[in-house]
This record gives sequence, C-alpha cells and structure tokens, in this order.
Amino acid sequence: MTIERLQSFYGLTRVPFGRDLAPGMLHRHNSHAEAVARITWCIDQRALGVITGEVGAGKTVALRAALSTLDISRHTTIYLGNPAIGVRGIHHHIVTALGGVPRFHHATLVPQATDALATEHAERGRTPILVIDEAHLLDHDQLESLRMLTNHDMDSRSPFACLLVGQPTLRRKIKLGVLAALDQRIALRYAMPAMTAEETTSYLKHHLGLAPLTELRVRGSQINGQSMIGRATFPGHGGRRRHTPGSGRAGGSSGWCAPGDR
Ligand SMILES: Nc1ncnc2c1ncn2[C@@H]1O[C@H](COP(=O)(O)OP(=O)(O)OP(=O)(O)O)[C@@H](O)[C@H]1O
Ligand SMILES: [Mg+2]
Repeated sequence: MTIERLQSFYGLTRVPFGRDLAPGMLHRHNSHAEAVARITWCIDQRALGVITGEVGAGKTVALRAALSTLDISRHTTIYLGNPAIGVRGIHHHIVTALGGVPRFHHATLVPQATDALATEHAERGRTPILVIDEAHLLDHDQLESLRMLTNHDMDSRSPFACLLVGQPTLRRKIKLGVLAALDQRIALRYAMPAMTAEETTSYLKHHLGLAPLTELRVRGSQINGQSMIGRATFPGHGGRRRHTPGSGRAGGSSGWCAPGDR
C-alpha cells in the first residue's frame, strides 16, 4: 500500500500530522507559545537555557519556530542533533560550523572553539546560538565542557547563547550534585507540559485543517471528517489522557482504519 493510495483513499491533500510544517502552519497552544517566548529571551540574553519535555511534546518544533523569527544577519545557529559524539565532537562541530579547520590536539581544539565563538560575536557582530537537541544523551564530561565554554572573559559574560533541549531525564541529570556549577549557571528552565483536553481538540482540528479531507472512515462507519473530531478517541488513551502533539505523529497508532481494514 503506497502512501499516495492511502492519501487518495481518505481524500487527503497532504499527509496529516507530518513533520514538514512551516512556522506559519504551527498550532499555537500554551506550552508552544511559552517555549518560543522563553527560547527567544534566552538567545537575546546570550544565556544558557534548558528546555525539557516528554517525547513528542513539541520541543524541536518550538525551537525551530523561535529560530525562524531571528534576524539571520545577526545570528549564527550551530545545531547539534545528535550529541553522542564525545567532548571532542562538540568542539569540533563548533569550529567547523563557524568556518574553521579543527585542530588535531584536544588541548588546542578547546581554545580554538572558545575563540571561534568569541570572534563570531565580537568581530562579525553575530550571536552564535549553540543548540544541542536530544541533550539528555549528553554525558557528564560533555556537560562540564559546555560549562567551561561559557567561562568567557573571567566569567563576566558569554559571547553565545546555549540551548539544551531534551527529555525530562536531562533536568534530573543536571540536578545531580556533581553538576552544581552548571546548574547554577542556567538562566532559563522550561519543562513543556502536555496539552490540555481543549488544546488537544483544537490541535487535531488544526492538523486536519492543514490536510483537508473529503471523508474520514472509522471502524464500522464512514462519516464526515470534520464533524467526528469531538467524538474521536485514541486507543490506550481512554479518551481522557492528556496528549503531547507528537502522539498523533504519522505512523503512530490511531483509531483510523486503513483501506481494507473496515
Ligand atoms: N505547535 C505545533 N503545531 C503543530 N504540530 C506540532 C506542534 N508541536 C509539535 N507538533 C507535531 O508534533 C511532532 C513532534 O514534535 P517535536 O518533534 O517537536 O517533538 P519533540 O518534543 O522534539 O520530540 P522528541 O523528544 O522525540 O525529539 C511534530 O513533528 C509535529 O507534527
Ligand atoms: Mg525533538
């Protein structure tokens, strides 16, 4: 069964709950708006921020939305999507992203990364934004090395903003006593809550509005797509549980039936 056949079967103009959403197509529920506002503040202050939330809470989407509002001539984003690259990997990535050739020895690579961040800010007039997604995968040494990077100019200011985005374990990891120095340096902490029941209804309507459908088939019946939203329940959620945006991801389990599954 091809995705095109599925789409035409349901009369969808695009795959619903897709990931390719432009910033203008996002649903503006409370936690999303809060996250975007706080990330923007953190960047403006060139501070260290920690955004956490359950899988699919909308962390990366909020990050993308906040970054899309920035003046690209005054900011340089250094995005690290997979932090499982060791301490050296982080410094290497920073230097490469800022147009340098990473030095071989770690002892010289660390000051090179620090200088590259400072130069980007002081000489090119751009604020570097170091974004580490899936930051709950960072190990102790990596978190310590990030703290060291923010030790600029005898710890009086930082030339860059740093955002750590990850699952709730990140928050717990940072709270450990051995990372107290990093913990007290964090200017922004935001734990994205799940959507309320009202927000979930509005979110579903929003996504179905982005992928207009002509009809929607549910087990045993075929009813108008828009009018069934209020009645939709999701297996395992009992219709009462709060939802995270990603729980409706394409490919996830839902009450919708596939062609031939009626
Ligand atoms: N504000 C929003 N408006 C519309 N769709 C959204 C919004 N937030 C999240 N989504 C949907 O939820 C999906 C998951 O969001 P996202 O990838 O940001 O979650 P996450 O918290 O980063 O999850 P993970 O922990 O797995 O990285 C997105 O692909 C998108 O379809
Ligand atoms: Mg994510």
